Amino acid sequence: MSQSKQVVIFDTTLRDGEQSPGVSLNLHDKIEIGMQLARLGVDVIEAGFPIASPGDFEAVKAVAEKVKGPIIAGLARANKKDIDRAAEALRAAEHARIHTFIATSDIHMRHKLRMEPDQVLEAAVEAVRYAKTFTSDVEFSAEDAFRSDVAFLCRLFEQVIRAGAKTINIPDTVGYATPQEYGQFIRDIINGTPNINEAIVSVHCHNDLGLAVANSLAALEAGARQLECTVNGIGERAGNASLEELVMALYTRYSIYGLDTKINKSEIYRSSRLVSNLTGMAVQANKAIVGKNAFAHESGIHQDGVLKERSTYEIMNPKMIGIFENNIVLGKHSGRHAFRERLKELGYELSDEEMQKAFLRFKMLADRKREITDADLAVLVDDERREE
Ligand code: KIV
Ligand code: ZN
Repeated sequence: MSQSKQVVIFDTTLRDGEQSPGVSLNLHDKIEIGMQLARLGVDVIEAGFPIASPGDFEAVKAVAEKVKGPIIAGLARANKKDIDRAAEALRAAEHARIHTFIATSDIHMRHKLRMEPDQVLEAAVEAVRYAKTFTSDVEFSAEDAFRSDVAFLCRLFEQVIRAGAKTINIPDTVGYATPQEYGQFIRDIINGTPNINEAIVSVHCHNDLGLAVANSLAALEAGARQLECTVNGIGERAGNASLEELVMALYTRYSIYGLDTKINKSEIYRSSRLVSNLTGMAVQANKAIVGKNAFAHESGIHQDGVLKERSTYEIMNPKMIGIFENNIVLGKHSGRHAFRERLKELGYELSDEEMQKAFLRFKMLADRKREITDADLAVLVDDERREE
């Protein structure tokens, strides 16, 4: 691995994330999420696509005015009208980035753009040159890059870097790649673009095959240094690479390469809850890192292990990401150790005999009820004592 060890986190919850079917955030929601992303410590916030609608324009403008710290990016297709609108929306930003893009795959160029490759190349270079007249920080994305011809991409990237692009983004727009292929693809682009060292290589992976995070990590190993992602992995169709999974995978496993992010990990859970509440998109219970069950232990064997030593069944400390809830779930698979500990936490002192009887009652109840709450335990102990 060459390049810097610092991985840039480009959050696109407010742009690609908002493109999740059924999600629409109002201005106030976007400012609130923007502020939280700043607390989370992301490097770049893509606040929206200003030409898309007057509401999007106003939201990018408001985020640029109010959220300080991270770079604020606005998306623009590779044409002057889009770039003008993005530049206007970003005027008040402390650090503004114009993110311009055009599709480069044969499928997109032929059927969607109806342009020849050389016309696409010319539009890309023109767009970057024009965006540079507003800000020194210009990112260029080759939409559907993974299904594009590598030689064509290298030629195009060489020219947009020469035109002043500081970040080169290589999206897997339709989530088609596998980790090994994508890593090799990024390597081929880095090796085939002579001036690539003048730009940061970025990746933007969609999750159609559930591989967005794995692909992003493979790209990192190949030399990419910016990861585009969203909180809770929300986004078009099956979503984007999930920010919390990338950050914690980097911290937990990739620190051996010295790679890390500037993310304030203790804000991860709060960010996830906020995005879920404001978008109305529930987080699945078994979602890695932020799902309700991500750190929950139900089986007796696991509970016994965790109560003796957390690392038996936990590879991360939930407190680190801001989760302080009790992670021992009492259910029908739970054993005596967890049951006794919970009663102790609740302040019940039971004799061995009382404990034995209460445990039998608990098991009977757990066969009927999926999760036993503290209130259930209180009733159970009271009943036990009354019957004595
Ligand atoms: O998925 C994609 O290709 C995009 C680009 C606009 C970066 O969202
Ligand atoms: Zn995307």
